[in-house]
Amino acid sequence: MKKIALVLGTLVVLLGIAGCSAKSDDSLDLGSTEAQVTETLTTNEQTTEDIDSEASVSVDGTTSASIVPEALVQNYVPKGFTDSERKKALFVVGDPRKYSVNYDLVNTAMRHFEENGVEVELRDLYDISFDPVLSLDNFYFAKDGAGMASPEVKAEQDFVTQADYIIFCYPNWHDTPNAIVKGYMETVFSKKFAYQDTADGLEGMLKEKSLYTIMNAGFLGGGRGYIGDGVGIDDASWDTYMNAFKVMDDDTAKFWGMENAGRFTNDRTPKNNSETYEADLDSLQKSLIEHLDRVFLNK
Ligand SMILES: Cc1cc2nc3c(=O)[nH]c(=O)nc-3n(C[C@H](O)[C@H](O)[C@H](O)COP(=O)(O)O)c2cc1C
Repeated sequence: MKKIALVLGTLVVLLGIAGCSAKSDDSLDLGSTEAQVTETLTTNEQTTEDIDSEASVSVDGTTSASIVPEALVQNYVPKGFTDSERKKALFVVGDPRKYSVNYDLVNTAMRHFEENGVEVELRDLYDISFDPVLSLDNFYFAKDGAGMASPEVKAEQDFVTQADYIIFCYPNWHDTPNAIVKGYMETVFSKKFAYQDTADGLEGMLKEKSLYTIMNAGFLGGGRGYIGDGVGIDDASWDTYMNAFKVMDDDTAKFWGMENAGRFTNDRTPKNNSETYEADLDSLQKSLIEHLDRVFLNK
């Protein structure tokens, strides 16, 4: 009976994971990150007891999540903001996995900015256990700017104030910023900080700043970049998605008084079992760098 419960529990996890993404890989070689994935999956309540190594292998072999081989994981640590006159990019990252392709894009972008004289501050929302829920305690501060910011919100607002570029980074989980990043928007970009009442209506207060997004995706038509960057698979769908994201980004940026600098979206992720993984990843990184050069570095 216990065995059956375990098998069912494992199946629930498998279906949950496999159903998350529009793409699926048949058989994956997860290399040395296998241990990390096994640890994550086996700490799920449904599978903690007695799960044997054979079941773990089959769980690992079925994940549709991207996994960068350990030897290629960048683990880039940016230097943070100083009081210099240099441009400043604030990375607000919502991704629980440091070895995802999504995080690789984040590391690539942070490194490229710093190599080109832009200061980078990273707010990894999972690492800092950011509370994304706009609770009653914070509600009137967010809605009306009433009272004092909590110390957590004040710390984040100070980073936003210093930044020239606010860069939200997350994997596409159902076509919006994922919950932890959305919660950052709701709680940190409060009234009287990000926008205010005027005689002519609401006015954005974060002028001279740019909003930009880095988002890895399962499948949105086939593309790597932004509007017009479909790779010939289903360019119409790609552009429909990118235009939809642009409508939301334009509105959010305008609400806060910022410029919408666009997005880098990718759904051409290297397959985990690709024999040319390193070259595939390199080509993806180059696409992002070209995009950043155009948008931020006038190259
Ligand atoms: C909860 C969840 C929801 C998802 N929803 C979408 C979606 O709506 N559209 C899409 O293209 N991919 C979706 N995906 C797939 C992820 O975007 C994709 O696996 C991820 O971006 C791959 O990047 P990563 O593994 O580097 O994080 C979803 C994944 C999860 C876990």
